[in-house]
Amino acid sequence: MNKIPKARLRTLRTITNGSRPGELKILKDNNQTTSLIDLASNDYLGLSHHPTVIESIKSSIGIEGVGSGASRFITGSKPIHKQLEESLSDWLDQECVLLFPSGFQANIAAVMALADRHTTIIADRLIHYSLLVGVKASGARLQRFAHNDLLDLEKKLKSCAQTGSTQNPLVITESLFSMEGTTPPLNEMSSLCKKYGARFLVDEAHALGILGYQGRGLCYGLTTPVTMISGTFGKAFGSGGAFLATNKLLGEELIQRSGAFRYTTALAPLLCKGAYTALNLIQSNPTWGVKLQEEASNWRAELKKSQWSYPKGIGPIISIMIGSDLEALKHQNILEENGLLSIAIRPPTVPEGTARLRVVLRKDLPSHTLNKLLIALNKV
Ligand SMILES: Cc1ncc(COP(=O)(O)O)c(C=O)c1O
Repeated sequence: MNKIPKARLRTLRTITNGSRPGELKILKDNNQTTSLIDLASNDYLGLSHHPTVIESIKSSIGIEGVGSGASRFITGSKPIHKQLEESLSDWLDQECVLLFPSGFQANIAAVMALADRHTTIIADRLIHYSLLVGVKASGARLQRFAHNDLLDLEKKLKSCAQTGSTQNPLVITESLFSMEGTTPPLNEMSSLCKKYGARFLVDEAHALGILGYQGRGLCYGLTTPVTMISGTFGKAFGSGGAFLATNKLLGEELIQRSGAFRYTTALAPLLCKGAYTALNLIQSNPTWGVKLQEEASNWRAELKKSQWSYPKGIGPIISIMIGSDLEALKHQNILEENGLLSIAIRPPTVPEGTARLRVVLRKDLPSHTLNKLLIALNKV
């Protein structure tokens, strides 16, 4: 195996929760703990610790138990599996929703359901690793279009149509890119897919719960609906597990043929319960996402005034572009010394020479956080 350069080595640290929402504690080598404000996790709405979510899990655990015991084909669907799937179907206006144990697995299942070795997949250059694993497993031919670039996507779709392939291509993108904070022009992309007869898979992992109409994600209400949506409960929903949302026909196809759905223990009832309660909270607080976006826009403006650059975006992920791995780590360390946890994202997670500090807003940040960040960044 190739030696990993020191600035690219990853370390596993013990990080516990503090007493306040969004407060984390890192255990140092000298056994001392340092308290940090969480600007790193994807718990955008603070639902991983929401008292209502915790109470609902406590009250259901005695009846539902912790785990599912087997795949849904063996021990069946628990009532909470059906409840969660039906609520998500209604909320997202999708005919069929199927739960998966993780977004990683759901993405593999999605690509494998929509593509095989005869398919050409046209994917954004920066899609999540799990989608690429799905592409590989499907045996499809992969072409990549420049990030969020409609012209390049159309060029690839056109050339695919000219080759006279009998199978419809599959286009893949994310609605909120996890390491960029950017969002593609989904309306235009789905129209292009329709024009060229392509299917369209969108990973909504980071957008669901916070972006789009009442937090329903950015595929909700598109003029041309997408073919399949992948969502996870590990981000704004604050728990774990995931789902695919699609039409009846493809839903049935997943049930009949997806190994990633069949050969796995069904999503744990306690995680379903957490996600179900989180969904109810998001539904009854439709302005949470809007407020987070307003706050993110304020942070972007202030960072810009201080000459920091980041890709254009609307959501709570602001990637401050640094460049070198070592510099990005230096920024992370200085922020930590100043009570803030924001992670230096380095290759291979992001392209060479584009290491960055991934700053993530959450709903429950103390009011002085932005100021604290600007002061800390000034010290680098
Ligand atoms: C865009 C994207 N898709 C999918 C996943 C996988 O989701 P999960 O954490 O539920 O496996 C992630 C999480 O890292 C992600 O960022």
